[in-house]
Amino acid sequence: MPYKLPAIMKVKPLIFNNIATMIKNKPAILYPSIILLLTVFINTQKLTAQNAPSLKQVFNNDFLIGTAINTPQIEEKDAAADKLIKQQFNAVTPENIMKAEIIQPGWDVFNFELADKLVAYAAKNDIKVNAHNLIWHSQLPAFMHHMQSADSVKQYFVHHITAVASRYDGKVYSWDVVNEALNEDGSLRKSIFLDKLGDDYIVEAFRLAQKASPHSKLYYNDYNIEQPAKRKGAIELVKKIQAAGVRIDGIGIQGHWRADNVPFADIEESIKAFAALGIEVMFTELDLGVLKNPWDNNTADVSATAKGGAAMNPYAKELPDSVERVQAKAYADLFQLFLKYKKNVSRVTFWGVNDQQSWLNDWPIRGRTNYPLLFDRNFKPKPAFYSVITIKK
Ligand code: XIL
Repeated sequence: MPYKLPAIMKVKPLIFNNIATMIKNKPAILYPSIILLLTVFINTQKLTAQNAPSLKQVFNNDFLIGTAINTPQIEEKDAAADKLIKQQFNAVTPENIMKAEIIQPGWDVFNFELADKLVAYAAKNDIKVNAHNLIWHSQLPAFMHHMQSADSVKQYFVHHITAVASRYDGKVYSWDVVNEALNEDGSLRKSIFLDKLGDDYIVEAFRLAQKASPHSKLYYNDYNIEQPAKRKGAIELVKKIQAAGVRIDGIGIQGHWRADNVPFADIEESIKAFAALGIEVMFTELDLGVLKNPWDNNTADVSATAKGGAAMNPYAKELPDSVERVQAKAYADLFQLFLKYKKNVSRVTFWGVNDQQSWLNDWPIRGRTNYPLLFDRNFKPKPAFYSVITIKK
């Protein structure tokens, strides 16, 4: 299906106004931004004459472009999302349905229905599935919360990895085998797995996954591992897995950053450091939020929640142009960096299809209006979409 450019009428005046205001205010400092906006404008002009490009086509020779999807999208019940996913993405990650609490809700009770549908949907549409995830301290089934004995945890661990990974061997392109096992200082996070199975549980998870799923790639996934201390911990982890003779194919940097605070230098250092280990580097849950969180650090810990009034939700009605511009520039700079390392970066996955779906509307504070992705609440491409596309022109 050809893709029309619905947002163009909105984007053109926006860009013109922005350029005019910038020139009036501070011409010299803002030259790079003006040049970027002019390039976006020229290229969106070109696009009006044709159909808008799709991310997966534009970056076809560079890396996979993924999105996180949920039940209505897997079941193709969300027509607008469905159309956009097929146009724009060649990789998907299930946002929730393959997590332990859903796929094994009771001891040895498996619920494979949605994951089977996901695999069929992806095969039909030539989309690669990154299955998320096998071992994570969060979103565990209720029966795990009462588990006391190391023996039971060990049984669960072996059975869960073996049953789930073997069912989808080769049917999913890849697995996030272990998710978020590190603390900010690079040490191992306290969890039921660390407590009951000891330091080697991560190597063992990869060993079991390798046996159960020899035809899917195996990854470690975490947030903030671009930060120096946590990065060091991640490097040690990968080296430990490799030294044990166990396969690890790549590492996923989640990429939940704020649009005005993307740690570009740390990201670049991390791509280099992880690539030096001989593994793929991926950006697996990318979103550049525009709302402040109640704390200074950049955690993406799902259990770190807070309450906040209207002051914490300043863009409930709409996103100001100035913020939208900052986001467009940050996305462009980020993709520029990904392209620089396209030999090492194998996939960039957004954590959601459009702003409406984003988990950042409800985390860490429930009921806010965030705008972290490339498509707005009506599935229209945002200025950030055009700025990302434009760097390839
Ligand atoms: C989030 C989902 O987006 C939410 O829908 C869910 O309620 C909680 O989990 N790191 C991860 C993802 O690895 O699985 C998390 O996803 C976001 C942080």
